[in-house]
Amino acid sequence: MKLKNMKALVLTTPKNIKNLMKTQFAKPEGKAGQFFTLAMNVFNFKLYNAVYNFVPKQPGARILDVGYGNGDTLKRLDEKLDATFYGIDISQDMKVLATKANARAVATEKMFLSVGDVEAMPYEDGYFDCVYTINTIYFWKDADRAMDEIVRTLKDGGRFICGFYSKAYFERSEKYQYEGETYYTTGELKALAQKHGFENAKIKVVDEKRFMYCLVGEK
Ligand SMILES: C[S@@+](CC[C@H](N)C(=O)[O-])C[C@H]1O[C@@H](n2cnc3c(N)ncnc32)[C@H](O)[C@@H]1O
Repeated sequence: MKLKNMKALVLTTPKNIKNLMKTQFAKPEGKAGQFFTLAMNVFNFKLYNAVYNFVPKQPGARILDVGYGNGDTLKRLDEKLDATFYGIDISQDMKVLATKANARAVATEKMFLSVGDVEAMPYEDGYFDCVYTINTIYFWKDADRAMDEIVRTLKDGGRFICGFYSKAYFERSEKYQYEGETYYTTGELKALAQKHGFENAKIKVVDEKRFMYCLVGEK
């Protein structure tokens, strides 16, 4: 990000910053999207590491990242695992950024990045060994439809991993809450997963002080 753009960001009002954060977390775009996704990479690395720990490690696995942002998690996983990676994100700009970050994997067809919505995914039934998503569930307009799609595209026995901040994180102050977003307690997210067939869903604590958790379940 250029210094001029950074200055503009720093000098803006708190209300503008809040609006900017709302749009840039939900659908990062342009230079600001580049800046905010980079910041997420720093603040959320514990969630990324946790997802790595829970991802199945068998060679040749097909793994989907829902809401891949700038593609940092995909890159970390691709460096460590012998798997084929897929990603879906509603932001065209994130596809450009994530493709740049993962140029070799994309060129060699080890990674396939798409623009699209979790609520209507372009993948076959039972295609994935694992679907993971980090910090996206708050933005899903219809969580039941999204969960149906995740279940549909997972193989029997496939794993779903959802890294998230619990509702308590957002409830600390109104300044962390945005209209149209949905926040979940650990119990609420577990109940949502169980309702969609992840009967063995478990909540793993990533960093309790920072309200970071992972839900892990098998279809
Ligand atoms: C807060 S960012 C998190 C990015 C990345 N997962 C990370 O942790 O760095 C949320 C991402 O989810 C994407 N997103 C939001 N709603 C989505 C939806 N309905 N379907 C697919 N992607 C979505 C956004 O475009 C954005 O890239």
